[in-house]
Amino acid sequence: MWDRFLRACRGLDVDRTPVWFMRQAGRYMAEYRALRERYGILELIKDPALATEVTLQPVKALPVDAAIIFADILTLLEGLGLDLEFVRGEGPVIHNPVRRAADVAALRDPAVEESLGYTLEAVRLTRGELEGRCPLIGFSGAPFTLASYAIEGGASRNYERAKGLMGEDPAAWDRLMGLLAERVGRYLAAQAAAGAQALQLFDSWAGALSPADYRRFVLPYSRQAIEIAARSGVPVIHFSTGTGAYLEAVTEAGGDVIGVDWRIDLAEAWRRIGGGRAIQGNLDPVLLQAPWPRLREAADAVLLAAGQRPGHIFNLGHGILPATSVDQVRRLVEHVHQASARP
Ligand code: CP3
Repeated sequence: MWDRFLRACRGLDVDRTPVWFMRQAGRYMAEYRALRERYGILELIKDPALATEVTLQPVKALPVDAAIIFADILTLLEGLGLDLEFVRGEGPVIHNPVRRAADVAALRDPAVEESLGYTLEAVRLTRGELEGRCPLIGFSGAPFTLASYAIEGGASRNYERAKGLMGEDPAAWDRLMGLLAERVGRYLAAQAAAGAQALQLFDSWAGALSPADYRRFVLPYSRQAIEIAARSGVPVIHFSTGTGAYLEAVTEAGGDVIGVDWRIDLAEAWRRIGGGRAIQGNLDPVLLQAPWPRLREAADAVLLAAGQRPGHIFNLGHGILPATSVDQVRRLVEHVHQASARP
């Protein structure tokens, strides 16, 4: 069933539980590492033929039910005028971070096709290559996760500067988030127009906030981005991590599918998210490195918590880690398909 993932996004019945993985293309695959010896990550992303090749690597190696376009959430920031670099062993760095109102006012807002056209072209190429095999997911970072990178200038432990801007200059915060929400929404809609059949919003760092701050400083902007994206007519997956304490607020922001991590029991998440939404998750990615019996048991526990309700998409609670073995991933996909086969 080539469309079991899209059917699950809509809460329709399926023959087996669909499964795909965040970061399913990446360093745990030898084919990816081979390409990375010759190209930087931004070179891979910005060459549509190479990005298409990387997107297809996991689809060829594993019986997954969806492909996700090879790109990164941070490329969107380049169009605003931010200077992005992936430093080996250190992760992403923004050399000219946004620190005050004047920096927000100086941000540019070029057309999506102009600044991110390479990913739209990769979506078009990949759709052509995938036809009939499985659906293609487009994605963007969510306004908060993008703002935190833009302000902190890279990965952060405590988000002191981002939270500082919320408190000290809420007008500047709102202006930055408004700009990002609009841009994220337009980027997602453009990916759908280019052929993406589902869209995922990654709010990877949203769990760093208090429930009240999430509601005041983040929720309205995630909602705005999701509303713009949803007008394209394709299902939207709203993913975050560490937000179990305010899952209701995340749900209120929108999404046909809510992505949850392993810090919350899937059955409890389902009760709190309520009917009318599909759920994606939520195996701990570290368990892919456990011996097979432990991994199988954990996967079965996720399937049991989902109880074969329509609208479950099996995934990890966050991305595949580089130390993961491809054979173990394949075994997991095969097991989920086998164990979830409907009578
Ligand atoms: O899922 C996929 O297969 C699609 C590709 C994808 C990448 N990044 C490629 C990538 C996706 C969906 C992302 C999203 C992304 N990027 C997020 C949100 C998801 C998450 O994991 O929380 C975030 C926070 C980023 C920012 C980012 N990109 C970081 C922090 C890093 C460095 C950390 C690391 O893992 O090395 C990246 C680099 C990056 N983006 C890699 C890949 C495969 C690792 C790359 C490499 O060096 O080859």
